[in-house]
Formats: sequence, C-alpha cells, structure tokens
Amino acid sequence: MNTFIFKNPVELIFGKDTVSKLADKVKLYGNNVLLVYGGGSIKSNGLYDQVTGILKEAGKNVFEVSGVEPNPRLTTVHKGVKICKEENIDFILAVGGGSVIDCTKAIAVGAKFDGDMWDVITKKAVPTDALPFGTILTLAATGSEMNAGSVITNWETNEKLGWGSPFSFPQFSILDPQNTFTVPKNQTIYGSVDIMSHVIEDYFHHGTNTKVQDRFCESVLKTVIETIPTVLENLEDYDGRETLMYSGTMALNGFLRMGTLGDWATHNIEHAVSAITDIPHGGGLAIIFPNWMKHVMNENLDRFCQFAKNVFDIEQGTKSKEEWALSGINALREYWNSIGAPSRLSDFGITKDQLPEMAEKTVRFGNFGRFKELNKEDALQILEASL
Ligand code: NZQ
Ligand code: ZN
Repeated sequence: MNTFIFKNPVELIFGKDTVSKLADKVKLYGNNVLLVYGGGSIKSNGLYDQVTGILKEAGKNVFEVSGVEPNPRLTTVHKGVKICKEENIDFILAVGGGSVIDCTKAIAVGAKFDGDMWDVITKKAVPTDALPFGTILTLAATGSEMNAGSVITNWETNEKLGWGSPFSFPQFSILDPQNTFTVPKNQTIYGSVDIMSHVIEDYFHHGTNTKVQDRFCESVLKTVIETIPTVLENLEDYDGRETLMYSGTMALNGFLRMGTLGDWATHNIEHAVSAITDIPHGGGLAIIFPNWMKHVMNENLDRFCQFAKNVFDIEQGTKSKEEWALSGINALREYWNSIGAPSRLSDFGITKDQLPEMAEKTVRFGNFGRFKELNKEDALQILEASL
C-alpha cells in the first residue's frame, strides 16, 4: 500500500423517509437559504414541495437557482454566486443529481472567493473558504454527495474540468432511495455505468498488498452488476435502488482507494468528449472504458486476469494470459451492451473529424493516467477505437 491520509467529513443520512431530517439540519444555519435544482424533475415528483415546505416551516427565506444543466455550466455557477453575494445567503441546499451538487459546490466556494470562480476551476487560484451547503441526492451515480469533487463546463472555451478543495465537501447529504424511483431507464443506465467506472478507475493500479481494497472493489462491482437488471425491470424496486445508491456513494467517497493510486485516464478522455458534445457522462464512459482497457492491458496483464476472474468469474482454462485478460474486457463490454449502454461515439452523432480536438483537450494539464501514462496520440487512438 502507499502511505495515505484519509479524511471525509460528510454526514451521511441514509434511508427511507429521511428527507424529514432536513428540518433539524437547517436549524444550524442562518435564515437565507439558496435552493439549487435542475430542470424540473423535483417538481414533477413532489420533492420540491416537500423540501420548500420544510424550509418555510423552519422560517427560512428561500432563494432559488433552477435549471442547472446536466454537465453543469459556468454561467449557472456565476448566477448562483451573484445571488449569494447580493442576498447574503447563509446556506445552500442542492436537490438533484451530480450536476446540481457539482454546481452547488462551485457556487459555495465562489460565494466566498474574491474573483472569477473559473480561476479556481482552472487551478490558477486556491480558495480558502466556502458557504456551508447540504445535499439531497436524487440520482445514484457520481458520489458527489460524499466527496469534494466537482466538474464544471465552460462553453466559451469548450472545457469541462474537474476541481475540488477541502472546502467543497457537503456538510450533510440526505439519501432516500425512494427519491431515485423516477430516474428514467437511460439515466439509470448512465448512472450505474458511472458507479462501475469509478470503481474500475481505482481498481487498475500498480500497488502491492492491496487485498482488502481489491476485494472491496470487486464486491461493489459484482453487486452492481447483479442489481442493475433488477432495477431496470422495475424502476421502483426499493432494494435495488437502495443498493445502487449505497454503491454510488461508496464508489467515490475515498473508502475504496485508501493506499492505492487509481488510473483516471478514461474520465479525463470522457470529459474532453462531453466538453465538445455535451454527451451524458456515463454514456461516454461506457463507450471509452473497454477501449482504454485494451490499450493499456499489457502494462499489467495479471491485474486484468484478476479482473476477469474475480469480477466476471472467468477461469483461465486453456487461455493464454492475454486471452484471459481480454475475456474480462469483452465480458464488461457485453454486460454493458446487455443493459442497453451505448458502445460507440457515433451513437451520439460524433464524427471522426471531431476526435483530434478532443484528444488535444485531454492534455490540457499534460500527460495523464497513472496505470499507464498517456499522451495526446494515445488519447486519439482510444477515441478512434471508440468511434
Ligand atoms: O435536471 P433534472 O430535471 O433534475 O433531471 C436530471 C437530468 O436530466 C435527471 N434526474 C436526476 N434525478 C432525477 C432525474 N430525473 C427523474 N427523477 C430523478 N429523481 O437526470 C438527468 C441527469 O442528471 P445529472 O445530475 O446530470 O446526472 P449525474 O448525477 O450522472 O451527474 C453527471 C455530472 O457529474 C459529473 C459528470 O461529469 C456530469 O457533469 N461527475 C461528477 C463527479 C463528482 N463530483 O465527483 C464525478 C463523476 O465522475 C462525474 O464526472
Ligand atoms: Zn464518473
């Protein structure tokens, strides 16, 4: 294992009917609350009425930023920061999926930052404070509810960049699986692929003596693989939604990666693709991940054989190590096909002439990927294989 320091201060409030706990939580903060949400799903499923009812009952003055886009935009962050500064907002509440939560993180830090939040996102400036914020999660996917990461898209420069700071952890996150019943099939597939991808990113490392971490990862992967079809069959399957929600949080709250250095090249490539085309994050990952795997598998064939055996129960039999490694990658591709995840960039109308610009964006901060360091040419090859 590598040496590591671990800290995660987020208070997790998990389970059926837990939204009512918001009443106690908001008592801890001042009167001016900014409610941040997306394109309206919380209005149609009743969560908006429930949350605003609790806030009003608590005597809060509620301000709103609505219409946060999937792949949230810098312009919406600016809108939220302006309201926070003008209205002396004391506390921000995000109600939605990863995009709403990521946007809220940027608003919270931007509200206490004297300058343009884009400078923080591009790592030109380091924030030193943030407004406190909490979240009510409505989609199992990103893990943003229990981490400090945020991903924001700037459409003026066509950049989609991840950033984070010790000040961008939520104070609390409320996770009631019932709030994910209305997530449609396609978003359920994208979210589940994202959960699996976070685990896979961390699984491919070169560390030694990581048996516990490896088995944690394998267990989350196997469980999600077994659960997705039951949820797609019945979108209101409480047990299945509960399992996905817990898995999503565990996949990216830092617990699985203690002492290891995962790869994260595929996320970098996907962000470059959606910076230009606005495709859903999980859709992009489903397309790119198996091609990244094929591109890098010779770095450590044993690790890929372990993946085939422990995640997909494929024994070596008469196969060479290379064939065994490949069988795990193919099993992942087939599994994602079987749940209806996309497998080609062209499924989203992406064309070959767009790929060089995407490859260029992957190296904004230099070469990338820790399992195997990749350059622009590698990115282009993976994108071409994904077309
Ligand atoms: O906007 P509304 O109307 O709420 O609809 C959303 C949106 O259209 C809908 N939705 C959410 N909850 C729903 C629902 N529809 C019906 N019922 C519900 N209960 O789903 C659509 C997608 O929502 P979004 O928040 O965009 O999805 P997700 O949670 O997958 O977030 C994706 C964003 O997170 C970033 C991605 O890059 C992308 O920008 N990521 C953030 C990470 C982090 N902060 O740690 C890590 C990830 O790797 C990822 O990069
Ligand atoms: Zn992701």
